[in-house]
Amino acid sequence: MSNRYYLTTPIYYVNDAPHIGHAYTTLACDVLARFKRLDGFIVKFLTGTDEHGQKVEKSAAAAGIDPKAFTDKVSQNFRDLAETMNFSHDDFVRTTEDRHKLAAQEIWKRLVERGEIYLDSYSGWYAVRDEAFYTEGELTTGPDGTKTAPSGAEVEWVEEPSYFFRLSAWQDRLEKFYEDHPDFILPKTRRNEVLSFVSGGLQDLSVSRTTFKWGVPVPGDDAHIMYVWLDALTNYITGVGFPEIETGEFAEFWPANLHMVGKDILRFHAVYWPAFLMAAGLEPPKRVFAHGWWTNEGEKISKSLGNVIDPLELVETFGLDQVRYFLLREVPFGNDGDFAHQAMINRMNGELANDYGNLAQRVLSMTAKNCDGAVPKPGSFTGADDALLNAAYGLIDTVREAMDVQAFHTALEAIWTVIRAANGYVDAQAPWKLAKEDQERMATVLYVLAETIRHLALLTQAYMPDASARILDQLAVPEDARTFEFLGANHALEPGTALPKPEGVFPRYQEPEKEA
Ligand code: MSP
Repeated sequence: MSNRYYLTTPIYYVNDAPHIGHAYTTLACDVLARFKRLDGFIVKFLTGTDEHGQKVEKSAAAAGIDPKAFTDKVSQNFRDLAETMNFSHDDFVRTTEDRHKLAAQEIWKRLVERGEIYLDSYSGWYAVRDEAFYTEGELTTGPDGTKTAPSGAEVEWVEEPSYFFRLSAWQDRLEKFYEDHPDFILPKTRRNEVLSFVSGGLQDLSVSRTTFKWGVPVPGDDAHIMYVWLDALTNYITGVGFPEIETGEFAEFWPANLHMVGKDILRFHAVYWPAFLMAAGLEPPKRVFAHGWWTNEGEKISKSLGNVIDPLELVETFGLDQVRYFLLREVPFGNDGDFAHQAMINRMNGELANDYGNLAQRVLSMTAKNCDGAVPKPGSFTGADDALLNAAYGLIDTVREAMDVQAFHTALEAIWTVIRAANGYVDAQAPWKLAKEDQERMATVLYVLAETIRHLALLTQAYMPDASARILDQLAVPEDARTFEFLGANHALEPGTALPKPEGVFPRYQEPEKEA
Protein backbone atom coordinates (compact mmCIF):
# COMPACT_ATOMS: atom_id res chain seq x y z
CA MET A 1 0.00 0.00 0.00
CA SER A 2 1.31 3.45 -0.91
CA ASN A 3 2.07 5.67 2.05
CA ARG A 4 1.30 8.81 0.03
CA TYR A 5 -1.89 10.70 0.81
CA TYR A 6 -3.08 13.62 -1.33
CA LEU A 7 -6.10 15.64 -0.22
CA THR A 8 -7.59 18.92 -1.34
CA THR A 9 -10.10 21.56 -0.32
CA PRO A 10 -12.24 23.36 -2.87
CA ILE A 11 -10.57 26.56 -3.96
CA TYR A 12 -12.53 29.48 -2.59
CA TYR A 13 -14.14 32.21 -4.62
CA VAL A 14 -12.48 35.49 -3.82
CA ASN A 15 -15.67 37.49 -4.19
CA ASP A 16 -16.16 37.70 -0.46
CA ALA A 17 -14.61 37.50 3.01
CA PRO A 18 -14.05 33.98 4.37
CA HIS A 19 -16.84 32.62 6.58
CA ILE A 20 -17.55 29.57 8.68
CA GLY A 21 -18.33 27.38 5.65
CA HIS A 22 -14.85 27.95 4.23
CA ALA A 23 -13.21 27.39 7.58
CA TYR A 24 -15.18 24.15 7.99
CA THR A 25 -14.15 22.51 4.71
CA THR A 26 -10.47 23.29 5.25
CA LEU A 27 -10.60 22.31 8.92
CA ALA A 28 -11.86 18.84 8.05
CA CYS A 29 -8.97 18.46 5.60
CA ASP A 30 -6.49 19.83 8.08
CA VAL A 31 -7.50 17.31 10.73
CA LEU A 32 -7.26 14.47 8.24
CA ALA A 33 -3.91 15.70 6.92
CA ARG A 34 -2.47 15.93 10.43
CA PHE A 35 -3.88 12.53 11.32
CA LYS A 36 -2.32 10.89 8.26
CA ARG A 37 1.06 12.53 8.91
CA LEU A 38 1.00 11.24 12.49
CA ASP A 39 0.05 7.85 11.11
CA GLY A 40 3.20 7.68 8.96
CA PHE A 41 1.91 8.92 5.61
CA ILE A 42 3.67 11.39 3.36
CA VAL A 43 0.89 13.90 2.92
CA LYS A 44 0.20 16.55 0.33
CA PHE A 45 -2.55 18.92 1.46
CA LEU A 46 -3.65 21.50 -1.07
CA THR A 47 -5.93 24.51 -0.80
CA GLY A 48 -6.24 27.78 -2.68
CA THR A 49 -8.42 30.43 -4.26
CA ASP A 50 -10.68 30.43 -7.33
CA GLU A 51 -10.04 33.83 -8.85
CA HIS A 52 -11.53 33.88 -12.34
CA GLY A 53 -15.06 34.10 -13.70
CA GLN A 54 -17.92 36.48 -13.93
CA LYS A 55 -18.75 36.44 -10.24
CA VAL A 56 -15.28 37.61 -9.21
CA GLU A 57 -15.15 40.08 -12.10
CA LYS A 58 -18.45 41.60 -10.94
CA SER A 59 -17.31 41.82 -7.31
CA ALA A 60 -14.13 43.59 -8.41
CA ALA A 61 -16.16 46.03 -10.49
CA ALA A 62 -18.47 46.67 -7.53
CA ALA A 63 -15.42 47.38 -5.37
CA GLY A 64 -14.15 49.73 -8.07
CA ILE A 65 -10.79 48.01 -8.55
CA ASP A 66 -9.36 45.94 -11.35
CA PRO A 67 -9.79 42.18 -10.93
CA LYS A 68 -6.11 41.42 -10.38
CA ALA A 69 -5.72 43.92 -7.52
CA PHE A 70 -9.04 42.75 -6.10
CA THR A 71 -8.10 39.07 -6.14
CA ASP A 72 -4.70 39.79 -4.59
CA LYS A 73 -6.44 41.46 -1.71
CA VAL A 74 -9.21 38.93 -1.09
CA SER A 75 -7.01 35.89 -1.65
CA GLN A 76 -4.81 37.18 1.19
CA ASN A 77 -7.82 36.99 3.53
CA PHE A 78 -7.98 33.25 2.91
CA ARG A 79 -4.29 32.83 3.71
CA ASP A 80 -4.83 34.84 6.89
CA LEU A 81 -7.76 32.61 7.83
CA ALA A 82 -5.53 29.56 7.38
CA GLU A 83 -3.01 31.12 9.74
CA THR A 84 -5.65 31.89 12.38
CA MET A 85 -7.14 28.41 12.17
CA ASN A 86 -3.73 26.71 12.34
CA PHE A 87 -4.21 24.96 9.00
CA SER A 88 -1.26 22.90 7.84
CA HIS A 89 -1.64 22.91 4.04
CA ASP A 90 1.50 22.23 2.01
CA ASP A 91 0.59 24.41 -0.94
CA PHE A 92 -1.84 27.18 -1.88
CA VAL A 93 -2.88 27.47 -5.52
CA ARG A 94 -4.24 30.70 -6.97
CA THR A 95 -5.84 30.25 -10.37
CA THR A 96 -4.26 33.53 -11.51
CA GLU A 97 -0.76 32.05 -11.14
CA ASP A 98 1.21 31.16 -14.27
CA ARG A 99 1.69 27.54 -13.19
CA HIS A 100 -2.06 27.17 -13.08
CA LYS A 101 -2.76 28.87 -16.42
CA LEU A 102 -0.27 26.49 -17.96
CA ALA A 103 -2.02 23.47 -16.44
CA ALA A 104 -5.49 24.69 -17.44
CA GLN A 105 -4.45 25.33 -21.04
CA GLU A 106 -2.71 21.97 -21.18
CA ILE A 107 -5.77 19.99 -20.09
CA TRP A 108 -7.75 21.92 -22.69
CA LYS A 109 -5.25 20.94 -25.40
CA ARG A 110 -5.43 17.30 -24.36
CA LEU A 111 -9.23 17.40 -24.60
CA VAL A 112 -9.05 18.98 -28.06
CA GLU A 113 -6.47 16.44 -29.28
CA ARG A 114 -8.74 13.62 -28.18
CA GLY A 115 -11.73 15.09 -29.98
CA GLU A 116 -13.61 15.82 -26.74
CA ILE A 117 -14.25 19.51 -27.45
CA TYR A 118 -16.11 21.11 -30.37
CA LEU A 119 -17.19 24.66 -31.26
CA ASP A 120 -20.89 25.55 -31.36
CA SER A 121 -23.00 28.17 -29.64
CA TYR A 122 -24.79 28.22 -26.31
CA SER A 123 -28.17 29.64 -25.63
CA GLY A 124 -29.62 28.97 -22.23
CA TRP A 125 -29.68 29.90 -18.57
CA TYR A 126 -26.68 30.79 -16.43
CA ALA A 127 -26.42 31.62 -12.73
CA VAL A 128 -23.46 33.85 -12.00
CA ARG A 129 -23.64 33.13 -8.27
CA ASP A 130 -23.18 29.39 -8.88
CA GLU A 131 -21.14 29.88 -12.08
CA ALA A 132 -23.38 27.15 -13.48
CA PHE A 133 -25.59 26.46 -16.51
CA TYR A 134 -29.14 25.26 -15.90
CA THR A 135 -31.81 23.72 -18.09
CA GLU A 136 -35.29 25.21 -18.20
CA GLY A 137 -36.65 22.18 -16.31
CA GLU A 138 -34.41 22.81 -13.31
CA LEU A 139 -35.68 26.36 -12.75
CA THR A 140 -38.48 27.77 -10.62
CA THR A 141 -40.44 30.79 -11.81
CA GLY A 142 -41.45 33.30 -9.15
CA PRO A 143 -44.69 35.35 -9.11
CA ASP A 144 -42.88 38.27 -10.81
CA GLY A 145 -41.56 35.99 -13.56
CA THR A 146 -37.92 35.85 -12.34
CA LYS A 147 -36.36 32.45 -12.65
CA THR A 148 -34.16 30.88 -10.01
CA ALA A 149 -31.87 27.86 -9.90
CA PRO A 150 -32.41 25.06 -7.35
CA SER A 151 -29.73 26.77 -5.23
CA GLY A 152 -31.86 29.93 -5.07
CA ALA A 153 -29.47 31.82 -7.37
CA GLU A 154 -30.92 34.12 -9.99
CA VAL A 155 -30.34 33.06 -13.59
CA GLU A 156 -29.84 35.08 -16.74
CA TRP A 157 -30.29 34.20 -20.39
CA VAL A 158 -27.00 33.75 -22.25
CA GLU A 159 -26.45 33.45 -26.00
CA GLU A 160 -22.92 33.26 -27.29
CA PRO A 161 -20.46 31.18 -29.33
CA SER A 162 -19.08 28.46 -27.09
CA TYR A 163 -16.90 25.39 -27.08
CA PHE A 164 -18.58 22.27 -25.74
CA PHE A 165 -17.24 19.24 -23.93
CA ARG A 166 -18.81 15.93 -25.06
CA LEU A 167 -20.12 15.09 -21.61
CA SER A 168 -23.09 13.14 -23.04
CA ALA A 169 -20.68 10.58 -24.46
CA TRP A 170 -19.33 9.85 -20.96
CA GLN A 171 -22.53 8.70 -19.28
CA ASP A 172 -21.89 4.96 -19.60
CA ARG A 173 -18.25 5.22 -18.60
CA LEU A 174 -19.12 7.34 -15.59
CA GLU A 175 -21.79 4.86 -14.52
CA LYS A 176 -19.30 2.02 -14.85
CA PHE A 177 -16.77 4.03 -12.86
CA TYR A 178 -19.24 4.62 -10.00
CA GLU A 179 -20.16 0.96 -10.00
CA ASP A 180 -16.53 -0.17 -9.88
CA HIS A 181 -15.70 2.33 -7.13
CA PRO A 182 -18.57 2.19 -4.63
CA ASP A 183 -16.73 4.50 -2.21
CA PHE A 184 -15.87 7.15 -4.79
CA ILE A 185 -18.68 9.37 -3.51
CA LEU A 186 -19.40 9.58 0.20
CA PRO A 187 -21.74 9.79 2.07
CA LYS A 188 -23.95 7.14 0.44
CA THR A 189 -27.03 9.37 0.22
CA ARG A 190 -25.06 11.88 -1.84
CA ARG A 191 -23.79 9.06 -4.03
CA ASN A 192 -27.36 8.06 -4.80
CA GLU A 193 -28.20 11.63 -5.80
CA VAL A 194 -25.31 11.73 -8.24
CA LEU A 195 -26.17 8.32 -9.68
CA SER A 196 -29.72 9.36 -10.35
CA PHE A 197 -28.60 12.65 -11.89
CA VAL A 198 -26.28 10.82 -14.28
CA SER A 199 -28.75 8.08 -15.16
CA GLY A 200 -31.23 10.85 -16.03
CA GLY A 201 -28.97 11.60 -19.03
CA LEU A 202 -26.11 14.04 -19.55
CA GLN A 203 -25.93 16.92 -21.97
CA ASP A 204 -22.78 18.31 -23.52
CA LEU A 205 -21.32 21.04 -21.36
CA SER A 206 -20.49 24.57 -22.45
CA VAL A 207 -16.84 25.08 -21.48
CA SER A 208 -15.99 28.54 -22.77
CA ARG A 209 -17.35 32.07 -22.57
CA THR A 210 -16.98 35.05 -24.87
CA THR A 211 -18.93 37.85 -23.21
CA PHE A 212 -16.30 38.80 -20.62
CA LYS A 213 -12.53 38.53 -20.31
CA TRP A 214 -11.58 37.53 -16.75
CA GLY A 215 -10.31 33.98 -17.22
CA VAL A 216 -7.77 31.70 -18.85
CA PRO A 217 -7.70 32.22 -22.65
CA VAL A 218 -8.68 29.19 -24.71
CA PRO A 219 -5.51 27.98 -26.46
CA GLY A 220 -5.63 29.01 -30.10
CA ASP A 221 -8.80 31.09 -29.81
CA ASP A 222 -8.39 34.30 -27.83
CA ALA A 223 -12.01 35.26 -28.32
CA HIS A 224 -12.90 32.65 -25.68
CA ILE A 225 -11.95 32.17 -22.06
CA MET A 226 -12.26 28.81 -20.34
CA TYR A 227 -15.40 28.10 -18.29
CA VAL A 228 -14.44 28.90 -14.72
CA TRP A 229 -15.25 25.41 -13.41
CA LEU A 230 -12.98 23.66 -15.90
CA ASP A 231 -10.31 26.20 -14.99
CA ALA A 232 -10.90 25.79 -11.23
CA LEU A 233 -11.11 21.98 -11.09
CA THR A 234 -7.77 21.78 -12.84
CA ASN A 235 -6.14 23.32 -9.74
CA TYR A 236 -6.07 19.83 -8.23
CA ILE A 237 -3.51 18.75 -10.81
CA THR A 238 -1.74 22.13 -10.95
CA GLY A 239 -0.91 21.46 -7.32
CA VAL A 240 1.04 18.32 -8.22
CA GLY A 241 2.92 19.82 -11.14
CA PHE A 242 0.74 18.97 -14.16
CA PRO A 243 1.54 18.98 -17.11
CA GLU A 244 4.64 17.16 -15.90
CA ILE A 245 3.14 13.73 -15.24
CA GLU A 246 5.90 11.17 -15.68
CA THR A 247 7.99 12.32 -12.75
CA GLY A 248 7.70 14.54 -9.72
CA GLU A 249 4.66 15.07 -7.55
CA PHE A 250 2.11 14.03 -10.14
CA ALA A 251 3.69 10.60 -10.40
CA GLU A 252 3.97 10.47 -6.63
CA PHE A 253 0.55 11.75 -5.55
CA TRP A 254 -1.97 11.46 -8.38
CA PRO A 255 -4.73 10.25 -8.29
CA ALA A 256 -5.74 12.28 -5.25
CA ASN A 257 -7.02 10.26 -2.30
CA LEU A 258 -9.67 12.80 -1.40
CA HIS A 259 -11.37 15.91 -2.69
CA MET A 260 -13.32 17.38 0.21
CA VAL A 261 -16.25 19.54 -0.92
CA GLY A 262 -19.55 20.96 0.31
CA LYS A 263 -22.73 19.28 -0.90
CA ASP A 264 -23.53 22.25 -3.18
CA ILE A 265 -20.56 21.59 -5.44
CA LEU A 266 -20.67 17.81 -5.57
CA ARG A 267 -21.90 17.57 -9.16
CA PHE A 268 -18.88 19.46 -10.47
CA HIS A 269 -16.52 17.16 -8.61
CA ALA A 270 -18.25 13.82 -8.98
CA VAL A 271 -19.54 14.14 -12.56
CA TYR A 272 -17.71 16.79 -14.57
CA TRP A 273 -14.25 16.37 -13.05
CA PRO A 274 -13.86 12.59 -13.49
CA ALA A 275 -15.26 12.95 -17.02
CA PHE A 276 -12.75 15.72 -17.87
CA LEU A 277 -9.91 13.64 -16.45
CA MET A 278 -10.83 10.39 -18.17
CA ALA A 279 -11.36 12.28 -21.42
CA ALA A 280 -7.90 13.83 -21.04
CA GLY A 281 -6.39 10.39 -20.47
CA LEU A 282 -5.79 10.98 -16.76
CA GLU A 283 -6.96 8.96 -13.77
CA PRO A 284 -9.92 10.23 -11.73
CA PRO A 285 -9.48 10.84 -7.98
CA LYS A 286 -10.20 8.10 -5.46
CA ARG A 287 -12.84 9.85 -3.41
CA VAL A 288 -15.07 12.90 -3.26
CA PHE A 289 -16.65 13.54 0.14
CA ALA A 290 -19.54 16.00 0.29
CA HIS A 291 -20.13 17.55 3.70
CA GLY A 292 -23.26 19.36 4.86
CA TRP A 293 -24.02 23.02 5.46
CA TRP A 294 -24.11 25.08 8.64
CA THR A 295 -27.00 27.24 9.70
CA ASN A 296 -26.78 29.98 12.35
CA GLU A 297 -29.19 29.45 15.28
CA GLY A 298 -31.47 27.56 12.92
CA GLU A 299 -31.36 30.15 10.09
CA LYS A 300 -29.83 29.78 6.67
CA ILE A 301 -26.57 31.77 6.60
CA SER A 302 -26.62 34.60 4.10
CA LYS A 303 -25.17 38.02 3.60
CA SER A 304 -28.60 39.53 3.07
CA LEU A 305 -29.81 38.20 6.44
CA GLY A 306 -26.65 39.64 8.01
CA ASN A 307 -25.98 36.45 9.98
CA VAL A 308 -22.70 35.34 8.42
CA ILE A 309 -20.44 33.72 11.03
CA ASP A 310 -16.92 35.10 11.01
CA PRO A 311 -14.45 32.36 12.01
CA LEU A 312 -12.01 34.91 13.41
CA GLU A 313 -14.65 36.17 15.81
CA LEU A 314 -15.45 32.63 16.92
CA VAL A 315 -11.82 31.93 17.67
CA GLU A 316 -11.54 35.14 19.66
CA THR A 317 -14.64 34.31 21.68
CA PHE A 318 -14.12 30.61 22.39
CA GLY A 319 -10.50 29.79 21.61
CA LEU A 320 -9.04 28.08 18.57
CA ASP A 321 -8.95 24.45 19.64
CA GLN A 322 -12.41 24.79 21.15
CA VAL A 323 -13.80 25.93 17.79
CA ARG A 324 -11.91 23.22 15.91
CA TYR A 325 -13.33 20.61 18.29
CA PHE A 326 -16.87 21.91 18.19
CA LEU A 327 -17.15 22.07 14.40
CA LEU A 328 -16.16 18.45 13.97
CA ARG A 329 -17.94 17.09 17.05
CA GLU A 330 -21.30 18.80 16.87
CA VAL A 331 -22.47 17.28 13.60
CA PRO A 332 -22.07 13.79 12.16
CA PHE A 333 -19.76 14.69 9.29
CA GLY A 334 -21.78 14.75 6.08
CA ASN A 335 -24.99 16.04 7.71
CA ASP A 336 -26.11 19.66 7.93
CA GLY A 337 -25.48 21.32 11.27
CA ASP A 338 -26.58 24.26 13.30
CA PHE A 339 -24.25 26.69 15.00
CA ALA A 340 -25.84 27.65 18.30
CA HIS A 341 -23.99 29.76 20.86
CA GLN A 342 -25.27 27.62 23.73
CA ALA A 343 -24.30 24.34 22.04
CA MET A 344 -20.75 25.67 21.62
CA ILE A 345 -20.57 26.60 25.31
CA ASN A 346 -22.00 23.26 26.40
CA ARG A 347 -19.36 21.30 24.54
CA MET A 348 -16.58 23.66 25.54
CA ASN A 349 -17.46 23.43 29.23
CA GLY A 350 -18.75 19.87 29.34
CA GLU A 351 -16.53 17.82 27.08
CA LEU A 352 -13.39 19.93 27.02
CA ALA A 353 -13.16 21.64 30.41
CA ASN A 354 -14.96 19.03 32.54
CA ASP A 355 -14.24 15.72 30.86
CA TYR A 356 -10.85 16.07 29.19
CA GLY A 357 -9.38 19.11 30.94
CA ASN A 358 -10.29 17.98 34.42
CA LEU A 359 -8.95 14.50 33.84
CA ALA A 360 -5.56 15.83 32.79
CA GLN A 361 -5.55 18.55 35.43
CA ARG A 362 -6.37 16.38 38.43
CA VAL A 363 -4.07 13.53 37.46
CA LEU A 364 -1.15 15.85 36.73
CA SER A 365 -1.57 17.91 39.87
CA MET A 366 -1.92 14.83 42.10
CA THR A 367 1.23 13.46 40.49
CA ALA A 368 3.08 16.72 41.02
CA LYS A 369 2.03 16.78 44.65
CA ASN A 370 2.42 13.12 45.61
CA CYS A 371 5.09 11.70 43.30
CA ASP A 372 7.86 14.32 43.55
CA GLY A 373 6.79 15.84 40.22
CA ALA A 374 7.94 12.80 38.24
CA VAL A 375 6.28 9.94 36.35
CA PRO A 376 5.29 7.51 39.14
CA LYS A 377 6.65 4.00 39.35
CA PRO A 378 3.83 1.47 38.96
CA GLY A 379 3.49 -1.82 40.86
CA SER A 380 1.61 -4.76 39.34
CA PHE A 381 -1.61 -4.03 37.42
CA THR A 382 -5.09 -5.09 38.52
CA GLY A 383 -7.94 -6.01 36.18
CA ALA A 384 -9.26 -2.44 36.35
CA ASP A 385 -5.83 -1.05 35.39
CA ASP A 386 -5.53 -3.39 32.43
CA ALA A 387 -9.06 -2.63 31.30
CA LEU A 388 -8.36 1.10 31.09
CA LEU A 389 -4.93 0.71 29.51
CA ASN A 390 -6.26 -1.72 26.91
CA ALA A 391 -9.06 0.67 26.06
CA ALA A 392 -6.44 3.39 25.48
CA TYR A 393 -4.19 1.07 23.45
CA GLY A 394 -7.11 -0.15 21.33
CA LEU A 395 -8.35 3.34 20.49
CA ILE A 396 -6.18 3.86 17.43
CA ASP A 397 -7.92 1.06 15.53
CA THR A 398 -11.36 2.57 16.02
CA VAL A 399 -10.15 6.08 15.31
CA ARG A 400 -8.26 5.06 12.17
CA GLU A 401 -11.29 3.23 10.82
CA ALA A 402 -13.48 6.29 11.40
CA MET A 403 -10.95 8.67 9.83
CA ASP A 404 -10.71 6.50 6.75
CA VAL A 405 -14.36 7.24 6.01
CA GLN A 406 -14.18 10.86 7.20
CA ALA A 407 -16.33 10.10 10.26
CA PHE A 408 -14.67 12.77 12.42
CA HIS A 409 -17.46 12.73 15.00
CA THR A 410 -17.21 8.94 15.42
CA ALA A 411 -13.48 9.20 16.06
CA LEU A 412 -14.10 11.86 18.73
CA GLU A 413 -16.87 9.84 20.31
CA ALA A 414 -14.52 6.87 20.63
CA ILE A 415 -11.84 9.05 22.24
CA TRP A 416 -14.39 10.48 24.67
CA THR A 417 -15.53 6.99 25.67
CA VAL A 418 -12.02 6.42 27.00
CA ILE A 419 -11.90 9.88 28.62
CA ARG A 420 -15.12 9.06 30.48
CA ALA A 421 -13.82 5.61 31.43
CA ALA A 422 -10.66 7.25 32.79
CA ASN A 423 -12.72 9.71 34.86
CA GLY A 424 -14.78 6.79 36.18
CA TYR A 425 -11.55 5.00 37.09
CA VAL A 426 -10.26 8.05 38.99
CA ASP A 427 -13.48 8.18 41.00
CA ALA A 428 -13.44 4.44 41.71
CA GLN A 429 -9.75 4.23 42.61
CA ALA A 430 -9.77 7.49 44.61
CA PRO A 431 -6.01 8.15 44.44
CA TRP A 432 -6.39 11.05 46.92
CA LYS A 433 -7.43 8.44 49.52
CA LEU A 434 -4.66 6.09 48.46
CA ALA A 435 -2.20 8.93 49.06
CA LYS A 436 -2.90 8.49 52.76
CA GLU A 437 -3.42 4.72 52.84
CA ASP A 438 -1.36 2.98 50.16
CA GLN A 439 1.31 5.03 48.36
CA GLU A 440 2.38 2.14 46.15
CA ARG A 441 -1.12 1.54 44.83
CA MET A 442 -1.57 5.29 44.36
CA ALA A 443 1.56 5.36 42.22
CA THR A 444 0.18 2.55 40.06
CA VAL A 445 -3.16 4.29 39.62
CA LEU A 446 -1.55 7.62 38.68
CA TYR A 447 0.78 5.84 36.29
CA VAL A 448 -2.11 4.06 34.53
CA LEU A 449 -3.87 7.41 34.22
CA ALA A 450 -0.81 9.26 32.92
CA GLU A 451 -0.25 6.58 30.31
CA THR A 452 -3.93 6.76 29.31
CA ILE A 453 -3.71 10.54 29.00
CA ARG A 454 -0.59 10.18 26.85
CA HIS A 455 -2.66 8.10 24.42
CA LEU A 456 -5.57 10.50 24.48
CA ALA A 457 -3.34 13.49 23.79
CA LEU A 458 -1.51 11.71 20.97
CA LEU A 459 -4.86 11.00 19.35
CA THR A 460 -6.39 14.46 19.85
CA GLN A 461 -3.37 16.18 18.27
CA ALA A 462 -4.91 16.25 14.80
CA TYR A 463 -8.05 17.98 16.10
CA MET A 464 -6.57 20.24 18.75
CA PRO A 465 -2.86 20.60 18.01
CA ASP A 466 -2.05 23.30 20.59
CA ALA A 467 -3.96 21.92 23.57
CA SER A 468 -2.76 18.38 22.91
CA ALA A 469 0.85 19.54 22.66
CA ARG A 470 0.51 21.28 26.00
CA ILE A 471 -0.76 18.08 27.61
CA LEU A 472 2.08 16.07 26.06
CA ASP A 473 4.56 18.72 27.27
CA GLN A 474 3.23 18.26 30.79
CA LEU A 475 3.82 14.51 30.50
CA ALA A 476 7.37 15.27 29.26
CA VAL A 477 6.72 13.33 26.03
CA PRO A 478 9.58 14.34 23.70
CA GLU A 479 8.53 16.14 20.53
CA ASP A 480 9.95 13.39 18.38
CA ALA A 481 7.89 10.76 20.20
CA ARG A 482 4.45 12.09 19.29
CA THR A 483 3.56 10.11 16.16
CA PHE A 484 1.37 7.02 16.25
CA GLU A 485 4.43 4.82 16.16
CA PHE A 486 4.74 5.69 19.83
CA LEU A 487 1.30 4.42 20.81
CA GLY A 488 1.13 1.27 22.89
CA ALA A 489 2.85 -0.26 25.89
CA ASN A 490 6.25 -0.50 24.18
CA HIS A 491 6.69 3.24 24.37
CA ALA A 492 5.06 3.74 27.77
CA LEU A 493 6.12 6.62 29.99
CA GLU A 494 9.42 6.07 31.80
CA PRO A 495 8.95 6.08 35.60
CA GLY A 496 11.08 8.73 37.26
CA THR A 497 10.99 11.17 34.33
CA ALA A 498 10.73 14.69 35.74
CA LEU A 499 7.48 16.48 34.86
CA PRO A 500 6.99 20.22 34.42
CA LYS A 501 4.58 22.12 36.64
CA PRO A 502 0.99 21.30 35.62
CA GLU A 503 -1.35 23.94 34.19
CA GLY A 504 -4.93 23.91 32.95
CA VAL A 505 -5.40 23.48 29.23
CA PHE A 506 -9.15 23.83 28.67
CA PRO A 507 -10.61 26.93 30.35
CA ARG A 508 -14.34 27.21 30.98
CA TYR A 509 -16.30 29.75 28.94
CA GLN A 510 -16.57 33.12 30.68
CA GLU A 511 -19.49 35.32 29.72
CA PRO A 512 -18.01 38.68 28.69
CA GLU A 513 -18.51 41.49 31.22
CA LYS A 514 -21.58 43.50 30.30
CA GLU A 515 -20.65 47.03 29.30
CA ALA A 516 -22.09 49.63 31.67
N1 MSP B 1 -14.94 28.16 -6.09
C1 MSP B 1 -15.85 27.09 -5.86
C2 MSP B 1 -15.12 25.78 -5.66
C3 MSP B 1 -14.19 25.38 -6.76
S1 MSP B 1 -13.35 23.92 -6.41
C4 MSP B 1 -12.63 23.48 -7.84
C5 MSP B 1 -16.72 27.40 -4.65
N2 MSP B 1 -16.23 28.26 -3.77
S2 MSP B 1 -17.00 28.81 -2.49
O1 MSP B 1 -16.09 29.73 -1.89
O2 MSP B 1 -18.27 29.32 -2.85
O3 MSP B 1 -17.32 27.62 -1.55
C6 MSP B 1 -16.34 26.83 -1.00
C7 MSP B 1 -16.86 25.82 0.01
O4 MSP B 1 -17.50 26.46 1.11
C8 MSP B 1 -17.86 24.84 -0.57
O5 MSP B 1 -17.41 23.53 -0.28
C9 MSP B 1 -19.13 25.15 0.17
O6 MSP B 1 -19.90 24.01 0.36
C10 MSP B 1 -18.61 25.68 1.48
N3 MSP B 1 -19.64 26.44 2.16
C11 MSP B 1 -20.14 27.66 1.84
N4 MSP B 1 -21.13 27.98 2.74
C12 MSP B 1 -21.27 26.97 3.64
C13 MSP B 1 -22.03 26.77 4.83
N5 MSP B 1 -22.94 27.64 5.26
N6 MSP B 1 -21.78 25.64 5.54
C14 MSP B 1 -20.80 24.74 5.18
N7 MSP B 1 -20.08 24.91 4.09
C15 MSP B 1 -20.41 25.91 3.21
O7 MSP B 1 -17.77 26.81 -4.51
